[in-house]
Amino acid sequence: MDVIRKKPFPLYNPIGKEEASAVNKVVQSGILSPYLAKQGDFFRGGKLVRELEARWADFHEIKHSVSFNSATSGLIASLGAFGICPGDRVLVIGYSMCISATAPLFYDAIPVFVDIEPDYFCMDPSKIEEKITPRTRAILTVDLFGQSSDMIKINAIAGKYNLKVLSDAAHVPGCRCKSGYAGTFGDIGVYSLNQHKIIHCGEGGIAVTNDDELALRLQLIRNHAEAVVAGMGYKNLANMLGFNSRMGEMEAAIAIEQLKKLPGLVERRIELADYLTEKLSGLEFLSSPNTRNSSGHVYYLYPLIYHEEATGISRQHYVEKIRNLGIPLHKFAEGYMKPLYLEPIFSKKEELKGGYPYSLLPKESVPRYQRGICPVQERLYEKEMLITAYNYPPLTKEDMDDIVKAFTRAGMRGS
Ligand SMILES: Cc1ncc(COP(=O)(O)O)c(C=O)c1O
Repeated sequence: MDVIRKKPFPLYNPIGKEEASAVNKVVQSGILSPYLAKQGDFFRGGKLVRELEARWADFHEIKHSVSFNSATSGLIASLGAFGICPGDRVLVIGYSMCISATAPLFYDAIPVFVDIEPDYFCMDPSKIEEKITPRTRAILTVDLFGQSSDMIKINAIAGKYNLKVLSDAAHVPGCRCKSGYAGTFGDIGVYSLNQHKIIHCGEGGIAVTNDDELALRLQLIRNHAEAVVAGMGYKNLANMLGFNSRMGEMEAAIAIEQLKKLPGLVERRIELADYLTEKLSGLEFLSSPNTRNSSGHVYYLYPLIYHEEATGISRQHYVEKIRNLGIPLHKFAEGYMKPLYLEPIFSKKEELKGGYPYSLLPKESVPRYQRGICPVQERLYEKEMLITAYNYPPLTKEDMDDIVKAFTRAGMRGS
C-alpha cells in the first residue's frame, strides 16, 4: 500500500515568546508564589494569580474563578465545597479521565455510573433519574471532547431533586454556547490547563462559579482551610480540611498569555474540524461528530463513529491500515477510554479502604461496578469510537486532506 503521508505532523505548541517573556519577569521579581494560609491579602495568592482569575471570569462571563494547580485538585475541592460527605452518592460517567469518576472517593462518597449519549458522548440526561436515591447529592458531568453536556436537562433534574451540579470542563475552555460558555452552567465548572489542553501552563486548573459561598469554600479548601477558618470567622466546618492546591505566579503568568490566544486557537480548531466533517461526510462507514443545538464545540478531540458493518473490517484493522498509510493516530484513537468502572479501583472496590465507604451501605445498595452497566460506553470503547487529534494549528487544510485520503482508502475492501 502506498504511503499517503510521508512527513510527520508538527506538534501542537501554543507557547511562544509572550509566555517566555512573562515568565522571565516573574523570575526576575523573585516572587514565585506569595500565598499565605492565613487571613489577609495573600490568602488568595499573588498578583498574577489574582489577575488570571479576574481575566478568566471576565472572559467566561462568570462571577468567580478560583485557580488550582490542576483540574484534578479543582474537581476534588468542588465536591468538598458542596459539602459532600461519606456515603453520599455522586452521579458520574465512566468514559473520561479517571478523576471524573474517582473525585467522590476522596470524600468517601459513592460514585454511581450513568451511561452517556450515543451521539454527543456526554452524560445521558434520560438515564439520570433512574440512578437517583435519597442519598444522591450531586451530578458530576463531563463536557467531553469539546462540547457542553445537556445542561438544560441536567440542571432541571438537579433542581427537581435538590442536587448540586459540577461540570468537568477540562476540555472546553473558550467554548461559546447559545447562552454563555461551556463549564459555566452548573454550580461549579472546572477547566484544565495541563500540557495537553487547548491552552496550558504546564499544570493548572480553574474552577468557576456564580456562587459567593462556593467560591470562598473553594479558596479555603485550596489553601489549608483548617488553619484559616477561625481567623476568618468562617463557621461551616464540613470538609474544611484543606489541601495545598495553589497555582504559582509563573503558571499564572503563562496562563494569562494563553487566555489572550484562546479565541484564535479555538477558531482555527473549529475551521479544521468543520473541513474534516465536510470532506468525510460522503463515507458511509464513518459518522462525524454532532454538536447539540444549545452548545458550541471546540474539538479538543475529533470523535468519529466507525461502522464496521459497512466495511467488513474490524476497527483495529482499520486503524492499523490508517497508521500504515502514514497517519500516526494516537494510542487512544481506538475506543478512547476503557470504562472506568472496569478499572481495579472500582472492580475491586473492597480493597480501596478495607471495604469503606461501601461498608456503610446496606448490601442491596452497594453499586455493581461491572460490565453491562453502561452499554453505550462499552460499545463505543470496544467497537465504534475512533479519534483523531490532528485538528490544531499550525496544521492546514492540506494536512486534513491527507487524513481524509487515509481514512477513505483504509475503509476500502482489499486495500
Ligand atoms: C475530562 C478530564 N477531566 C479532568 C482532567 C484532569 O486534568 P488535570 O491534568 O489538569 O488534573 C483531564 C485531564 O486530562 C480530563 O481530560
